[in-house]
Amino acid sequence: MNIIQATNYQDMSNQTAELIIDTVRNNDYVTLGLATGGTPKGTYQQLVKDHQLNQTSYQHVTTFNLDEYVGMRPTDPNSYRYYMDQYFFDEVDIPEQNIHIPNGMAEDLPRECARYEKQIDDTNGIDLQILGIGKNGHIGFNEPGTAFESTTHVVELAHSTRKANARFFNHLDDVPTHAITMGIATIMKSKQILLLASGEDKAEAIRKLIHEEVDEHMPASVLRHHSNVTIIADQNALVSA
Ligand code: F6R
Repeated sequence: MNIIQATNYQDMSNQTAELIIDTVRNNDYVTLGLATGGTPKGTYQQLVKDHQLNQTSYQHVTTFNLDEYVGMRPTDPNSYRYYMDQYFFDEVDIPEQNIHIPNGMAEDLPRECARYEKQIDDTNGIDLQILGIGKNGHIGFNEPGTAFESTTHVVELAHSTRKANARFFNHLDDVPTHAITMGIATIMKSKQILLLASGEDKAEAIRKLIHEEVDEHMPASVLRHHSNVTIIADQNALVSA
């Protein structure tokens, strides 16, 4: 596991964006796995800036997002589709048909999960997966205790995760109770993984990820079994490491 120590959130975002831009510029076809949440916002801002300044093109890029809330329309400002449009997709030249996010409105959710997993495989897998990390060590919405063999599935969100995400909603009760997420095995199939972390809030999770044993109660610890993982964390997230 490589560890890149960034000075602060902006530096973490800049360094992550540089690695993504490198991959996008140097490959004829690229499949990116994308995350939402507070952590990668600055990275998307840098990618958009670079697209505007240097014309880095996303015409040949396909994307798969990690997760989406169940029961939320793509037009709902709290949906992950809306977030992605707002911070990235609407600002670059990625073709609409190359964008993939689980459909949280699907009537048959298990079928939607199987369809999503197959679509990732049919695209020849994810070349570069961006991850954030939950305070409890979740990746995607794979909460502690999720089987390492899991593929795309429906999850009930942990109370702590709903509480953490309540900052984007009016009230905790408005935070959905379920989501579709890529599974741990789906994430592990990615050829390369960048895990981002910023702030003291994440320090304990990063310490466990780096030092403690691989265990399903700490979902991110599975990354120690992957051959190409880079953690890009700022100093505050690395204080305990
Ligand atoms: C988001 C996702 C989550 C977040 C994690 C950290 O698509 O899959 O695992 O990466 O909850 O969220 P933030 O960045 O808001 O601290």
